[in-house]
Amino acid sequence: MTAKMLDIVDQAGKSVSGENLKNDIKILFTDIDGTLLNSDNTLSPLNMQTLIKAKEKGIKIVLATGRPVFSVQGVIGEQLKKNDLKLFPGIYLNGCITYDENGKKIIDHVISDELKMDIHNFTKKKNFDQYCIWYTADQTFCFSINEEIKNYMNVESVSPKIINEETFKTLKVYKVLMCLNEQNMSSIFQSCKDLFAHKINVANTFMYYIELFHQKTNKFEGVKKICDNYNISLNNALVIGDGENDIEMLQGVPTSVAPSNASDKVKSCAKYIGPSNNDAVVSQALQRFCGV
Ligand code: G3H
Ligand code: MG
Repeated sequence: MTAKMLDIVDQAGKSVSGENLKNDIKILFTDIDGTLLNSDNTLSPLNMQTLIKAKEKGIKIVLATGRPVFSVQGVIGEQLKKNDLKLFPGIYLNGCITYDENGKKIIDHVISDELKMDIHNFTKKKNFDQYCIWYTADQTFCFSINEEIKNYMNVESVSPKIINEETFKTLKVYKVLMCLNEQNMSSIFQSCKDLFAHKINVANTFMYYIELFHQKTNKFEGVKKICDNYNISLNNALVIGDGENDIEMLQGVPTSVAPSNASDKVKSCAKYIGPSNNDAVVSQALQRFCGV
């Protein structure tokens, strides 16, 4: 049977009925870009209303994103606050900073200075250092602003600070984001994987973005910690995500959904496939699996 536009289907393409599922969902972990937000970078009224209803039903709502908390605050912070939805607990910077519900860091994994310098020297040698954005816990930095970084600034609602080599050396970096384009994406992605994948996570997280972050961390590490803190079993978690930085958490729980806009690779890692981000996959999944 062909999936309807708003349907949620299993890997065989069969429509899934939430009523037949035995897992009682108590917590939602949702990715942001390509999942909770539409492609125009906004949170739709339908997604928002459904999140509110889910919260009223006692389901915990947790953001799990590659963004740092200040970027999420900038793009949807006010909208969430108005509806009494919280940024904490939350999984940020791909889990490299994960906060408990009081805003206390329960995971804090920074890239070593040596590796940071290796990555930087490599990007300079290959002449793509101008595409890199360096994330500390509370700010982003770059060496110059090109077209790709201008686009990124629109999407992320953050303005990287321009720095020099001396300042760069002092930064405690949690994530490197390479904002690439159709022409240079695949070759740079491949070189980064060849050189660094044994030392650090290298993932295509969104559009032409490649992110490098601590090897011991991914969003699933955050999912486990937060579930543990709440004493909620992973069997009672619903995970939704579209990027390579969502793969571990999609594989780590029995109820996971990739939106139809995810790549085939990511879709194959989820238990279910849902509608696209632009068709409110988060709302649809909450309706289907939680009866919201
Ligand atoms: O800036 C975009 C990202 O780092 C990817 O964010 O994990 O919420 O999709 P996401
Ligand atoms: Mg995403």
